[in-house]
Amino acid sequence: MTAQLIKGAEVAAQIREELQKEVAELKAKHNVVPGLVTVLVGADPASQVYVGAKEKTSKELGIYSERYDLPEKTNQAELLELIDKLNKDPKINGILVQLPLPKHLNEGEVLYAIDPKKDVDGFHPVNVGKLMIGKPDYMPCTPAGIQQLLIHSGTQIEGAEVVIVGRSNIVGKPIANILLQKAPGANATVTICHTRTRDMAFHTRRADILIVAAGKPKYITADMVKEGVVVIDVGVNEIGRTAEGKRILAGDVDFETVKEKAKAITPVPGGVGPMTITMLMMNTVRAAKVAAGLA
Ligand code: GUN
Repeated sequence: MTAQLIKGAEVAAQIREELQKEVAELKAKHNVVPGLVTVLVGADPASQVYVGAKEKTSKELGIYSERYDLPEKTNQAELLELIDKLNKDPKINGILVQLPLPKHLNEGEVLYAIDPKKDVDGFHPVNVGKLMIGKPDYMPCTPAGIQQLLIHSGTQIEGAEVVIVGRSNIVGKPIANILLQKAPGANATVTICHTRTRDMAFHTRRADILIVAAGKPKYITADMVKEGVVVIDVGVNEIGRTAEGKRILAGDVDFETVKEKAKAITPVPGGVGPMTITMLMMNTVRAAKVAAGLA
């Protein structure tokens, strides 16, 4: 069996088209323009690419966008002062501080400073807590995108054995909570594995749906999965460069061998990645509607 490809780029394009219409309608009928600000501290090349893509997509959808590129040496007080200003700015509905922050900054304190109503990343403890108690408001973008991919690919989620590899606050923990919800598109039985899991393959082989966010190129091999599994590969690992200097990417899953056993699988790139930004745009549009009393 060769797996069905779960093409995140196509699902994302479909959702973006709907969002673009919604943004145009908000402007025409209510004179509301959603606004998103991205804040990048330092010059990490990968973060620059991500922030650039967020800015570009905002513009394509008609979302007002601002971008702050702060020097590496920015201190905690300066960053908190900027967030305070953005919290109070009525043009801004969503505030995104790109992670990771430089080591000298207190990430938790920064995320806590963002108004939960403008927390389109879903990282504020209030939004994390709401998800945990089954009343999600703003959900983190990568996990929300993964759920959409599973739904759009027609995967049976309810009652499925979902195994997640990775326990980060950005992917592993929130996707576990999302798929655990007593709600449509969820109701799964969830296992979270991590670097201290005793027998990884024992767990991954049980998975009906395997979600991998381990940050290790080609970590999941064909012998670690069962026939008919649905695989979501969140990994983006640079494994080399072409002669022209272009990045060669690999996921956390050994795509070529695993696709022979899987029922469906996301490619890297073009799988989960495009969904993350799309969910960010969706959260931003929603934040604007809530702020305008339209949702
Ligand atoms: N770094 C990696 N993923 C993300 C994300 O979804 N949001 C932010 N703000 N930073 C990230």
